[in-house]
Amino acid sequence: MLVNANWVLSALWLCCRGFPQVGALPCRTLAWRSFECRELASLQDLSDVGAENWHSLAVRNERTELALDSDTSVEYLANLVELDLSAVQQLNLHTQGFSLLPNLRHLNISGSGLGELHGSHFAVESALQHLDASHNRLELLTKDVLGNLRKLIYANFSHNALTGCELPHLPLLNRLDLSHNRLVNVSFGVCPQLQQLLLHENRLAQLDVSAFRGLHGLLELQLSGNRLTCIAQETFLPLNQLRVLNLSHNALDALRPSVFGAAQNFVLNLQQLDLAGNHIRLLFDNQFRVLPRLQALDLSRNSIASLSSGHFVGLGSLRKLYLQSNDILEIKPGAFAALANLDTLDLSRNSLEYFEEQAFGGNTLTRLRKLNLNANRLKRLHPLALSSLPFLEYLSLGHNELRSLDVRMFAPMRHLQKLHLGHNLLEEIGPDVMDCLSSVMELLIDNNKLTFLVALNDTFPSLNRIAIEGNPWQCTCFVELQQWLTSKRVTYLRENTGYYKGERPLCVVTAVDYCIQNLQAARRQKIHADFEVEQEDTDAFDEDDASAAVD
Ligand SMILES: *[C@@H]1O[C@H](CO)[C@@H](O)[C@H](O)[C@H]1NC(C)=O
Ligand SMILES: *[C@@H]1O[C@H](CO)[C@@H](O)[C@H](O)[C@H]1NC(C)=O
Ligand SMILES: *[C@@H]1O[C@H](CO)[C@@H](O)[C@H](O)[C@H]1NC(C)=O
Ligand SMILES: *[C@@H]1O[C@H](CO)[C@@H](O)[C@H](O)[C@H]1NC(C)=O
Ligand SMILES: *[C@@H]1O[C@H](CO)[C@@H](O)[C@H](O)[C@H]1NC(C)=O
Repeated sequence: MLVNANWVLSALWLCCRGFPQVGALPCRTLAWRSFECRELASLQDLSDVGAENWHSLAVRNERTELALDSDTSVEYLANLVELDLSAVQQLNLHTQGFSLLPNLRHLNISGSGLGELHGSHFAVESALQHLDASHNRLELLTKDVLGNLRKLIYANFSHNALTGCELPHLPLLNRLDLSHNRLVNVSFGVCPQLQQLLLHENRLAQLDVSAFRGLHGLLELQLSGNRLTCIAQETFLPLNQLRVLNLSHNALDALRPSVFGAAQNFVLNLQQLDLAGNHIRLLFDNQFRVLPRLQALDLSRNSIASLSSGHFVGLGSLRKLYLQSNDILEIKPGAFAALANLDTLDLSRNSLEYFEEQAFGGNTLTRLRKLNLNANRLKRLHPLALSSLPFLEYLSLGHNELRSLDVRMFAPMRHLQKLHLGHNLLEEIGPDVMDCLSSVMELLIDNNKLTFLVALNDTFPSLNRIAIEGNPWQCTCFVELQQWLTSKRVTYLRENTGYYKGERPLCVVTAVDYCIQNLQAARRQKIHADFEVEQEDTDAFDEDDASAAVD
């Protein structure tokens, strides 16, 4: 309603200043020398509005095709700086297009049904700085198209149908978006100021050495969602300013160290490298040696089977390492030893059965806060496997096959806040282990084989969230546990699952009326057998726990 009122007001304003077409005025003022016009067939129509020296124009055409005809003289638009045609459904540029508007600096032709763009559509020495041509049907960008746009700073050609792109030298170009097209190859002129180049969601299968030669200032290169199988040696060598390189969701089976260049003592400034969702099976020794500033490395969703101490050499600044959803069976001693600044390590959804004593090397990794081992096949953990990680705050061991916990493992973890042990085969959590967990705030022990917890009173002083369902608790013990949790105001996680809606059993009634807190004695009650019968159809993999894993 407000908009309509405005519309009327400005219509009145225009009308009082003596404009024709009362009742059907095409334009309203937005600001000084700034207009919005509707259902305009040609810029010529604006001469009726009578205003002079326009600065900014936005056109909204729902029904009318806007044609930019050649030889019309529109001198009141000669100084037009901003033109927004993004709400024009169909734009026809004829031969001269925007060349009538040599002072145009901002042009938005996003979603205007454009099938072609030519060099002649722009004035020679055009002042254009910002061009948004996204969401059109453009098929080809040749050198000619942008040849007149030497002042261009920002260009967006995303969501077109481009199959090829060849750019001329663009001395000021800073951001270029070519994502969501059908590009099979690209070639760029010298663009020394280009900082952001978006090429994701295209069909690039190869990158050749010369691809990025003129782009020395590039900071961010997005190449995810292409079909890259192979990257030539030294392709990224010229990009010595690059901070972010995204190669995720391609078809790479390896990343040869030489793609970054092979010279001795040569280093790149890369901070983030994303290789997720490729087909990488092997890492090379010294693979990342030239990336001493790298902070985040994503190798998730590949097919890596083994990690050894040569793989992460040189990554002294690395803070986040994502290795989830690979086929990792084996972590050799010292594999993570070089990662002195590591903060987060995600190894979830792999095939680990055992975690070695020396995986983290002999030195303490004082910065490691989050370790995710969820959804492996861990049966045993060496009691000292995590001894180099005394500052862990988050540890997920959920969805494994652990039968017991060793106090030697938990004793040094004085900072642990979240401990996820759900979906294992634990029958007991010893009082000594519980005593170590004094800083734990969130505890998941659901879906194990627990029938009781021993002496609760002084344990878990920090606890405020817990999951306990899916265990064959003796009902007497369960009631005690619940009372204790209530008295401590601990919140239940997943309270809306079948267990708490009365659809699944929360505990098993035993032959005695007290809580048996002794594993042997409890076993004699055959509680597990009873519970398993009742449980049959339960738990497939619990997505929640896995995805909650690393924030
Ligand atoms: C162009 O217009 C579209 C639609 O109004 C808008 O979403 C987009 O942000 C504009 N582009 C620029 C560069 O302002
Ligand atoms: C380019 O345009 C698309 C579609 O409007 C938008 O999502 C994207 O953020 C733009 N790119 C840049 C770099 O501004
Ligand atoms: C780009 O790919 C097209 C189609 O495969 C091919 O015709 C053309 O020669 C290629 N151009 C360059 C510069 O490689
Ligand atoms: C890489 O691209 C994917 C898909 O577009 C995106 O989800 C991810 O956040 C990007 N990674 C980086 C480091 O930019
Ligand atoms: C635990 O504490 C409650 C109330 O504080 C007390 O009644 C109970 O006897 C204590 N149990 C044990 C085993 O110390």
